[in-house]
Amino acid sequence: MTDTTSTNIEAAYQPFESERLSLPGRLVRAPVWSSTADEQGVVSDNTVEFYTSLAGNGLGMIVTGFAFVSENSRAVPRMLGVSNDDFIPGLTRLVEAVHAKGDKIALQIAHCGLNADPLYDPDGLIYGPSLIVLNGSTQAEKMGRLHKGNAHIMRSLTRGQIDRIIDEFIEAAERAEEAGFDAVEVHGAHHYLISEFLSPTFNKRTDIFGGGSRQRARLAVDVVRGIREAMPKLPILFRLNCEDFTPGGITLDDSRVTAAMVAEAGADIISVSGNNPVRTRIIKREREAYFREQARVIRQAGGRPVIVTGGIRSPEGVVEILEGAFADLVGIGRPLIRTPELPARWREGNFEPYDCISCNGCMRAGMEYSVSCVRTGENGSEQEAL
Ligand SMILES: Cc1cc2nc3c(=O)[nH]c(=O)nc-3n(C[C@H](O)[C@H](O)[C@H](O)COP(=O)(O)O)c2cc1C
Ligand code: SF4
Repeated sequence: MTDTTSTNIEAAYQPFESERLSLPGRLVRAPVWSSTADEQGVVSDNTVEFYTSLAGNGLGMIVTGFAFVSENSRAVPRMLGVSNDDFIPGLTRLVEAVHAKGDKIALQIAHCGLNADPLYDPDGLIYGPSLIVLNGSTQAEKMGRLHKGNAHIMRSLTRGQIDRIIDEFIEAAERAEEAGFDAVEVHGAHHYLISEFLSPTFNKRTDIFGGGSRQRARLAVDVVRGIREAMPKLPILFRLNCEDFTPGGITLDDSRVTAAMVAEAGADIISVSGNNPVRTRIIKREREAYFREQARVIRQAGGRPVIVTGGIRSPEGVVEILEGAFADLVGIGRPLIRTPELPARWREGNFEPYDCISCNGCMRAGMEYSVSCVRTGENGSEQEAL
């Protein structure tokens, strides 16, 4: 383990250059939905405040929480929307506020698939790659939001519906570009729609979108290629589960194939995550950076720069990732909810022990009102306010 005093934290503040994207530093605020939009999904004053509190602290870039590409693809309350042109003025205001503080910002775009809230579907249904009876573990089921009669069934998307969804992703990226975002991130992780297509657990299709890993990656590739063809200059990030960590789920071999295919289709950066992305109680160095080994493999396979996120808590952990060539960029989520100015502290040589205890109370707060740190006191999860 490296000693904090000898940590070469300067590595985290070195510029990053790729063909379409230049960043002033290597720390990226990982996508974290804030539940601060209004009920329609429009950027509110709270949204602007949430993101501007992150800016100006030495981050290389901020990636927003996921924004829905169609009305019936939204998952959480007060989620950001980008499903029609009416969202553009609010998104522009958000971008301008972050740019005014000198930071770059990317919009993450998503279809939430089986985790979409059926309340937003005209027929109260949820859709994914295949007809599957669910086992009670999805967000919609946990929130008790599946309508009676349709409960616990994921319907299989038709070819026509899939083509429409690809167009919705492309149109969402066009709106992001028009609003002035520096990049767009396609959400291909965490068992939202694209990741469900990638995962053999959910994708039982026998058409061109199902089968081996290359066929299961088809939706991801069509989305990325469609955006690249429509917007040759827009930097595209693709977020990917390195593994599902469940029997019959996505393996590292699968994600290597996907990374190479989306890179070839036009993705500039692969953002490596996995399931479960939000592991708890990262209170020892050994539990930090839980996807970093997989990130290194995907970096080699994809031939593109990689962001790794997940349990990265200490300046030593950041430096090890960058100097050990596990990844080119380091994503940080929960610690920046608790301490938005953390990157500035580190840059100034203030290496106070991190005090986000990865309890996920902020996530539960987001379901109720908006995302914020609920931990009080100094000593751990017993101190949680929720
Ligand atoms: C409240 C909350 C909201 C999140 N929202 C998103 C999201 O919108 N999109 C996404 O890809 N990941 C989301 N994540 C996962 C984070 O991007 C990140 O992968 C995860 O928090 C692990 O990183 P950390 O240990 O640095 O927090 C969310 C996590 C939390 C805690
Ligand atoms: S509630 Fe606070 S301490 Fe717990 S994970 Fe969220 S930011 Fe960290």
